Amino acid sequence: MKIAVLPGDGIGPEVTRAALCVLDALSLPGLTLHEGDVGGAAYRRHGHPLPAETLEIARAADAVLFGAVGDPEFDTLPRALRPEQAILGLRRELGLFANLRPASGWPGLEELSPLRPELARGIDLLVVRELTGDVYFGAKGERAGPDGKRQGWDEMAYGEAEVRRIAHIAFRAAQARRGHVTSVDKANVLETSRIWRETAIDVARDYPEVALAHMYVDNAAMQLVRSPGQFDVIVTGNLFGDILSDQASACVGSIGLLPSASLGERRTAHGTFGLYEPIHGSAPDIAGQDKANPLAAILSLAMLLRHSLGRDDEAGRIERAVGRVLASGPRGADLGGSASTDELAQAVVQELAKAD
Ligand code: IPM
Ligand code: MG
Repeated sequence: MKIAVLPGDGIGPEVTRAALCVLDALSLPGLTLHEGDVGGAAYRRHGHPLPAETLEIARAADAVLFGAVGDPEFDTLPRALRPEQAILGLRRELGLFANLRPASGWPGLEELSPLRPELARGIDLLVVRELTGDVYFGAKGERAGPDGKRQGWDEMAYGEAEVRRIAHIAFRAAQARRGHVTSVDKANVLETSRIWRETAIDVARDYPEVALAHMYVDNAAMQLVRSPGQFDVIVTGNLFGDILSDQASACVGSIGLLPSASLGERRTAHGTFGLYEPIHGSAPDIAGQDKANPLAAILSLAMLLRHSLGRDDEAGRIERAVGRVLASGPRGADLGGSASTDELAQAVVQELAKAD
């Protein structure tokens, strides 16, 4: 089995290294790692944020372990060359249309949430975000506006087939959870959302045991801070999902704890091909200081083992080890402690060695 490792920019390399320490500690047989350049790091070396050889490494693998991309040094480059294009290009080229972003409160961390502890404690939700459509990938450009001044425009569109396949992912996820899907849209204003909602209702017929509710995105943003415990699975489009998943992560306490999986249709020997990344970004302000929280990257590795390599046992072991570190082990700066990235990785490795 092959894992493509794309560390990227900022804290990406540090947290990816930490995740690889944990992988190493599992001593899984028959696993090979293939590293590639991506983001600003790739632009520096190859003149492009997603070089063809990196894409090839990713395509040839069973799963991609991704760090982060983004570097203020490249903020003024034309959009096509900015580091962010690497992740957008990977999602598009690899057909990774389903983004799973679980967010749940970890016991002991409630005090770190900006929400009241009793609200934070109740969070156990999964954002299922459509990842290869919407205004992200529609036509876009600049034109002369009615006043003769420059006007930027981006096309937002969703086809039924795109909605259908992401809806199926959400309903199946809900079957394995608490049986509740909230479809988030803006159907009171957008035609895109009308198709979204009608399609979600149609797909729901295949899942009579799952309850489907609809919520406008503005209300969903409000409900997420007012009573986040009401959500089980949230399914939504690319743009709304981008925003709501950041909001959900903040409600939990630290963005440094949330992993994500981006899945497509390609099957691997033991699961589904996917790309796994912490949902935090490259955090250039703390890059290279060994103080980034590696737990989101480590939890992303657990998702990789579960979804792409069929290693449910090891995934569970990692998640329980992380839980024990969070409950009683050292904490990093984002959680009010002073442990380094490396110390946190070692703490997880030590917990892994204990029987659970
Ligand atoms: C995310 C990020 C990306 C997105 C950026 C880096 C393009 O915010 O994965 O949520 O908007 O999808
Ligand atoms: Mg985002």
